[in-house]
Amino acid sequence: MAGRSAVGLDIGTSCVRAAEVSLGKGTPRLERFGQVALPVGAVRDGEVIDVDIVAGAIKKLWSEVKFGSKRVAIGVANQKVVVRQVDLPWMETNELHKALAYQVADMIPMPVEQAILDFFPVDEFFNDSGERMLRVLLVAAARDMVESALRAAQRAGLKPISVDLSPFAVIRSLADHDHLGIDSQAEALVDIGAKVTNIAVHQGGVPRFVRILLMGGGDLTEAVAERMGVPLEQAETTKHQLGIPATPADRDVHPASRVIESSANALVEEIRGSLDYYLASPGAVPIRRVVLAGGGAKLSNFVGKLSVATRLQVETASPMAKMRIGKTGLSDDQLAHIDSLVAVPVGLALGVAS
Ligand SMILES: Nc1ncnc2c1ncn2[C@@H]1O[C@H](COP(=O)(O)OP(=O)(O)OP(=O)(O)O)[C@@H](O)[C@H]1O
Ligand SMILES: [Mg+2]
Repeated sequence: MAGRSAVGLDIGTSCVRAAEVSLGKGTPRLERFGQVALPVGAVRDGEVIDVDIVAGAIKKLWSEVKFGSKRVAIGVANQKVVVRQVDLPWMETNELHKALAYQVADMIPMPVEQAILDFFPVDEFFNDSGERMLRVLLVAAARDMVESALRAAQRAGLKPISVDLSPFAVIRSLADHDHLGIDSQAEALVDIGAKVTNIAVHQGGVPRFVRILLMGGGDLTEAVAERMGVPLEQAETTKHQLGIPATPADRDVHPASRVIESSANALVEEIRGSLDYYLASPGAVPIRRVVLAGGGAKLSNFVGKLSVATRLQVETASPMAKMRIGKTGLSDDQLAHIDSLVAVPVGLALGVAS
C-alpha cells in the first residue's frame, strides 16, 4: 500500500463500520472497508450503552477485515453532543482554546466540567458597539458518552487517536467545493442512519450549521412492525421492498405503505425544519443543494419527497466517486451498496490527515 493510511471507526446504532483510507498526495484511496451488525440496544440513539457487546463487534470486524492499523479515529453523533453558533469577543484561536470553558459555561446545556469542548471559527465581525467579535460553531460533548465510545474501541484492542463529530466527518468525505472554498452558496449534507440523522450545512468545506436529529430509518421499521404486528426483521424487509409510495394509488398497494409514508414525512419535516432554522440564522447563505448519505437515505422515493418539501435539488451521495478504490476485496455490487455508507468512516479517516 502506498503512503500513509488512516482508519475511521463509525459506531452506529445498527452496526460498527470502519474504513481505511490511504492519504498520499493525490486523491485518497479506499483500501479496506467492513461492518459488523450490532444487536438492538447495544448502541441506543447513537450512544454506546453496552461497551462489551460493542467491543466484541469491533473485535470481530478487525478479525474479518485486515486493517493495516489499530489506531482509529472515532466519530460521535447523538443527543449528548450539542453544536451551536455563538458569538464571542474576538481573540486569537489559541487563546480561545484556553479560555473556552470560561467563555461558554453558560451557553451549553450541561455542566462545563462534564463536557469536552471544541470550536470551529465561522466568521469575524464588528458588533453594534464596534467590538470585534468571533462567530464560532461551538461543540460540547458529554465526557461520559465520549468515554464509553473510547472504552469500546480500547477493549477491542484498538488505539483511538481522535474523536470527531460525525457531521464534520461527512463534510470531509462529501463536501463538494471545487471553487477553492469561495462558494457563495452552501450545501446541506444529511446522513440518515437507523436512529440518528446528521445534518451539516457547509460553505466551501467550512461548517456553518450542524443539527443532530434522533430520528432515522429505524423509526420507519418500528412503525411498520407495530402496524403489521410483525417482528422488526420482517418489517425491515417490507420497508425495503415498498419504499415510500410513489403515487396516491401506491398507498393502497400494501397495508404498510401509508405507515411508511407518514413516518417518512415526519423525518422529511424535521430535516426541512432544520434547514429552515439554519436559513433564518444570522449570516446564513442560501443552500444550493442537499446531498443524502447513510442507510436510511436508501429508502426509495425519499429523495423526491425531500426535494418537493424543501424545494431544493436533492441528490444521493457518492463519496467513493471522489476516491480511488484499492484492493478492497469487495465486488462491484458490494462497492455500490456501501457507497453511501462509507461517508462517516471515510470522513473520520480523512480527518487524521488534516
Ligand atoms: N434499501 C434500503 N431501503 C430502505 N432503508 C434502508 C435500506 N438499506 C438500509 N436502510 C435503513 O438504513 C438504516 C441504517 O442506516 P445506517 O447503517 O446508516 O445506520 P447506523 O449508522 O447503524 O445508525 P445511526 O447512524 O442511526 O446510529 C436502517 O434503518 C435501515 O432500515
Ligand atoms: Mg450512522
